[in-house]
Amino acid sequence: MDVSDLQVLEHDVVVVGAGGAGIRAAIECSKQGMNTAMVCKSLLGKAHTVMAEGGAAAALGNVDPRDHWKIHFRDTMRGGKFLNVWRMAELHAKNAPDRIRELEEWGAVFDRTGDGLINQRNFGGHRYPRLAHTGDRTGLEIIRTLQDHGIHQGVEIYMECTALDVLKDGDKVSGIVCMWRETGRFIIIKSKAVIFATGGAGKAWKVTSNSWEYTGDGYAMAYEAGAELMDIEFTQFHPTGMVWPPSVRGTLVTEGVRGEGGILKNKEGKRFMFDNIPERFAPETADSEEEGNRWLQGDKNARRPPELLTRDVVARAIMKEVKEDRGSPHGGAFLDIASRRSAEDIKKKLPSMYHQFKVLAELDITKDPMEVGPTLHYFMGGIRVDPDSQMSNVPGLFACGECSAGMHGANRLGGNSLSDLLVFGGLAGQGASDYARSLSGTPQIDNAQVERIIRNATDILNRENGENPYLLHEALQETMQMNVGIVRTAEDLNKGITDIEKIKEDYKQVKAAGASQYNPGWHEALAMRNLLITAEAVARAGLMREESRGAHTRIDFPGEREEWVKCNIVIKKGPDGKMEVRKVDRSEPDPELKRIAESTLEDLEAEVARETA
Ligand code: FUM
Repeated sequence: MDVSDLQVLEHDVVVVGAGGAGIRAAIECSKQGMNTAMVCKSLLGKAHTVMAEGGAAAALGNVDPRDHWKIHFRDTMRGGKFLNVWRMAELHAKNAPDRIRELEEWGAVFDRTGDGLINQRNFGGHRYPRLAHTGDRTGLEIIRTLQDHGIHQGVEIYMECTALDVLKDGDKVSGIVCMWRETGRFIIIKSKAVIFATGGAGKAWKVTSNSWEYTGDGYAMAYEAGAELMDIEFTQFHPTGMVWPPSVRGTLVTEGVRGEGGILKNKEGKRFMFDNIPERFAPETADSEEEGNRWLQGDKNARRPPELLTRDVVARAIMKEVKEDRGSPHGGAFLDIASRRSAEDIKKKLPSMYHQFKVLAELDITKDPMEVGPTLHYFMGGIRVDPDSQMSNVPGLFACGECSAGMHGANRLGGNSLSDLLVFGGLAGQGASDYARSLSGTPQIDNAQVERIIRNATDILNRENGENPYLLHEALQETMQMNVGIVRTAEDLNKGITDIEKIKEDYKQVKAAGASQYNPGWHEALAMRNLLITAEAVARAGLMREESRGAHTRIDFPGEREEWVKCNIVIKKGPDGKMEVRKVDRSEPDPELKRIAESTLEDLEAEVARETA
């Protein structure tokens, strides 16, 4: 193969991934005068962003004027079990309201309060109704708005184009090699900076809310380029995915159902969440049905119902019911909105859920409870970045949205993903533009690197015989579901690692039959490299973290341990090509942020009231 025959394009910044974070980053780069491209292996806007159905969290204070960035920040830190990068949680809480208002200016249509303001709903772990929403299709509305705005900003969009690996000039990024999925032809995109906005890797598990695109591409490409991954052991199982029928197992049932008053029951009809209130959240959680109902009706002195505890807590509680034989017929719990809200309200506030259950499960949620159970939904960890610029340790390589680490600590609060991608998509765009502007010349392309990347990809087609990529993927999903799941032990994690090592060996001989023109087997095989790197990182980091914190539950190490909040687990490719996993001490937080996060709710509310009086 002659590299000089390849299609070559040149841009200042290339954004990989065209979900909310990617589009927001591209808009910012373009605003900064950068010649910007966006590459996506699927279609523009066909992204997991739409799976954040219930809303975007921002302390607008439209429904409860007591809300304030400090309370949002405190909720986020407590939800993340204090492992969040303090500065990121601060930037997020302070900037989210402006990013939501900006979206409205760009044409987003949110539900309104009686006074015509953006309406906000309750969600798990949030003290006040805080989620700006559009029924239960908020992610879709946000991505529609970003797309409509973005396509007028002069961004070049390359769709159905798979990014294969990053190119470097010395230690700096110099571009990226991609492949057109339709023709199988390769393309070099030269650029000064690359922003990954590639989402997570839910497709490593069997039961997931993620669609086919979520194969950890950004994690793996960053890892191969020498970037560090952080907190990757924290994988969020959303408590409510569909469990029946089997063909749709894992499909998301928005937390908005519980935000609108939905309750969880076991097969005995018991509202079991009252028995699962952790000590940390007890002072802020209702201990009776009556108090929870008062809170939902807006009683400012009541506490929130236990169904709105953080996702890690609710997911574990459902699993406990199933394990102790009190689950629903298909291995979940019952989620009941029918007895709590009128049919008219349900259809108005949760139209997609109504439709989803009607069509997929032949169930009318205005009449009957849904069957739900945990589904792999989100990665809290990812590429380690500087909080303000979003640049990784590789100069010129940036990350934002789900594929970056730090904002959510050990557990993300629902609704914080949409505001995260708006805030940090914008910052990544700014950071990458500043960086690109600071370079004196254009980084050079090294043909040997291009040849190696293309050879790795085409070997899969060229070998005579070999392993079937679909079977390797199935084996990976099986072991991740069984051994690297919602609750973990050293024994299970070691078994998972052994299985992954075996699949990695088999992968060396993976074979896709057919030619390079639109060849799904080849695409699957290429994605498998990324899934394997990600899965290994999750399992190895999970084994090292000997405590239970947020979404990472070790039955052999119950409870949080003080020494583990002082460090992150960081992963990097070692000089011998093996995965290096190490503990890295965290820096001391800003004392003012620490004070805010550790204040009692009562004290902080009083402080905010004084400040805003
Ligand atoms: O339940 C949901 O609507 C998901 C929201 C999120 O993940 O932020």
